[in-house]
Amino acid sequence: MELETFRALRTPAGSRLLAACEGYREADAVRLATRLRKDHPADLVAAALTQASLRQQAAAKFGADAALLFFTREGLEQATTRAVAEHRTRRLNGAVVDLCCGLGGDLLALARAGLQATGVDRDPLTVELARANLEVLGLAATVEQAEVESYDRSPYDVAIADPARRGARGRIFDPAAYSPPWSFVLALLESDACVKTAPIIPHRLVPEGVEAEWVSERGEVKEAALWSGRFVSARRRATVLASGASLTDADDPGGADVLPPSGYLYEPDGAVVRAGLVTAVAPLVGGALLHAEIAYLTSQELVATPFATAYEITDVLRYDERQLRKLFKDRKVGRLTIKKRGLDVDPADVRKRLVAKGPNEATLVLTRTPESTVALLCESRLRPLPHSPRPSS
Ligand SMILES: C[S@@+](CC[C@H](N)C(=O)[O-])C[C@H]1O[C@@H](n2cnc3c(N)ncnc32)[C@H](O)[C@@H]1O
Repeated sequence: MELETFRALRTPAGSRLLAACEGYREADAVRLATRLRKDHPADLVAAALTQASLRQQAAAKFGADAALLFFTREGLEQATTRAVAEHRTRRLNGAVVDLCCGLGGDLLALARAGLQATGVDRDPLTVELARANLEVLGLAATVEQAEVESYDRSPYDVAIADPARRGARGRIFDPAAYSPPWSFVLALLESDACVKTAPIIPHRLVPEGVEAEWVSERGEVKEAALWSGRFVSARRRATVLASGASLTDADDPGGADVLPPSGYLYEPDGAVVRAGLVTAVAPLVGGALLHAEIAYLTSQELVATPFATAYEITDVLRYDERQLRKLFKDRKVGRLTIKKRGLDVDPADVRKRLVAKGPNEATLVLTRTPESTVALLCESRLRPLPHSPRPSS
């Protein structure tokens, strides 16, 4: 979207156009565009339809606010979700400069919490989007257009930064793909700061004296935030949203017994796995690892924890596809969820080979013990577990 087009969307005529596109369905797009083009320029109609579509997609990140906010596709893709931004904000205090503020995912949360906040971004359209987004929500913060490398941070107590990670292909963590560059990130982390990085950051890249916090929301690991200076209270932390419960290396005994599967299987949350804190979950559930190098736990007890999902193990079998196919045929299993760790198999392929016809469903976990590969049949529905209190913060 061009800056001029965005400004036109912000006029009264643009607002009427946006209202006319609100809640439109893709199937109606051509008919709606044809009708609107009778009274409005074609490029403005296209921009309004795109905006309406982005607002619908943005509800997953911004909730009800999405219907009011302004987006570009790229800005939305890179934006921090409201829950994650609010979690970060709760750890901050003082006057905050948000370097690389984008369209305002973090900045809106800072302003909403009443922190004195300034956003900085190099892109003129993005800066106007961030300003508009603050305005439509009635929030107060300043947004400046600048290159963050040359921006004077001295008036602020703390800097947060969310570098663009364009060009980082696939799941390879490439510090060279960061803009501003990794050298700038390292310099920021020498004072009070928080830098958002990709969850796949290798632990060895986390500088000495810096805390890495892996944050998950609804089971998906969203980021690894690097905290420095007065914000450091651990070396590694896993935080699970919405509860906000967190585990750190201080909770980790550093090892766990290895026992055969029995009773319940615990699948640790992705943030716990990324943070290398699986063995910190073992004492919480009275459990043991299935294998020293695989992130599954087993326990005779069913314990409420936000850090892992529990499944009741109903059958412990050898991973023998012929026997499993027969079993699913006998049990009329027509829907099969397959989880695997520590085995080089493609669950989609395995499912095709094993699933039978019938009304029943099952969850099959394929993994290894020190002795052999195993197939664990589990109760397919997750047990509703209440959240336990946070063990540390
Ligand atoms: C990942 S996005 C920020 C998303 C933001 N935290 C949010 O939640 O909406 C990164 C932003 O950094 C900006 N950027 C990249 N390099 C920059 C630089 N050297 N100086 C200023 N801004 C930069 C880009 O324009 C982009 O808007």
